[in-house]
Amino acid sequence: VRAVDVIRKKRDGEALATAEIDWMVEGIARGDVADYQWSALLMAIVLKGMDRSETVALTDAMMRSGVVVDLSATPGAKVDKHSTGGVGDKTSLILAPIAAAAGVLVPMVSGRGLGHTGGTLDKLESIPGFTVDVDLDRYREILGETGLVLIGQTKEIAPADKFLYAMRDATSTVESIPLIAASIMSKKLAEGIDGLVLDVKTGGGAFMVALEDSRLLAETMCDVGRSMGKKMVALITRMDQPLGRAVGNAVEVAESVACLKGEGPEDLTGLSLDLAAEMVLLAGLAGTLDEARGICERTVADGTALERFRRLIAAQGGDPRVIDDPGLLPQPRRTIELKADRSGRVARLDARPIGDATMLLGAGRARVDSAIDPAVGVILHKKLGDAVELGESLCTILVNDESELERAVAKIAAAYHWRDGPVETPSLIVDRLV
Ligand code: URA
Repeated sequence: VRAVDVIRKKRDGEALATAEIDWMVEGIARGDVADYQWSALLMAIVLKGMDRSETVALTDAMMRSGVVVDLSATPGAKVDKHSTGGVGDKTSLILAPIAAAAGVLVPMVSGRGLGHTGGTLDKLESIPGFTVDVDLDRYREILGETGLVLIGQTKEIAPADKFLYAMRDATSTVESIPLIAASIMSKKLAEGIDGLVLDVKTGGGAFMVALEDSRLLAETMCDVGRSMGKKMVALITRMDQPLGRAVGNAVEVAESVACLKGEGPEDLTGLSLDLAAEMVLLAGLAGTLDEARGICERTVADGTALERFRRLIAAQGGDPRVIDDPGLLPQPRRTIELKADRSGRVARLDARPIGDATMLLGAGRARVDSAIDPAVGVILHKKLGDAVELGESLCTILVNDESELERAVAKIAAAYHWRDGPVETPSLIVDRLV
């Protein structure tokens, strides 16, 4: 195989053979495929696409570029969830303890936030002492002891994705469904799971804005997972407004704890239970989705899900007292109420500018290496469809560094759109692909 021939073949719109894809991906570690050759191939893939068997071959090769964790020594069904990300999306923190309390083993390798979207790892690290830098031996141990584990990507997992993602970022080749699907699935399939629940977001605050793109991404990822022997299900869910009321890091942990106590906002609690129920069903611990949902609801009502979260925090070095006293989480120096300058109903609350504003406050990263402030963010008191009186608080803004405060406040204010009559609030789940 020669790189130049593989590039030409894809440039001319032909499908690549599995051996050619393997050779190119293995060439990253061998060091005999140049960066410019990979970048040319990536651009050809963006322009000409990849069929299903090429996408599976690419995912498989990327997965095999590193360690594929073997969890067979730990008995029980291992099921994870992956979300394509959004604003205020903290469902992992809620559904992982719920699913674990229901008997599912939940091995999660998560990501950090970038741009307007937050990341599970950053949220967890706002718990004093909590570490996500856990090696694969300890990963197995924690999973065996507590039924769940939440760590960051290690060097051993899918190193080819790290290389290719950096190359895509620098060559405008991120936006390609086969490349996105292979990137996500190569990492998830290396975790040692039996099944995966996908939450593919759609709408203005999502990575895939258009519904048709979100659906195609979900179908592609399900196809890839099934071709590799995994049980798959995907929910397509709206990310037009932030999920729940809290956007930030510590504040999202506090909201997750509230959900596990049965005191969380309805949209967030509902979606977390729906996704956890899919995990229970994939794990074979219930006969129907309704039965699975009931099992999940009981883990919240009887406190066993909250107890799992407490054990997870302790196992990963964190201070579990944050569960009883959220005041132990990092707190901002100052809070500001944003008041309504009119009365009416919230006709839209755009997730994207809320995410951008929290990034300006310091809760997110503009670049992969920027530091984040765990204490800052926003608590939304008014969301889509809510009636608001002039002068009422729309949200509380949690502030430390005030250098971008004015811009952040302006973005939040502009995220609210108004109407005088009634407003429809569509259901969060748009579709379920099985
Ligand atoms: N997340 C990933 O891990 N990879 C992509 O390509 C896009 C989102």
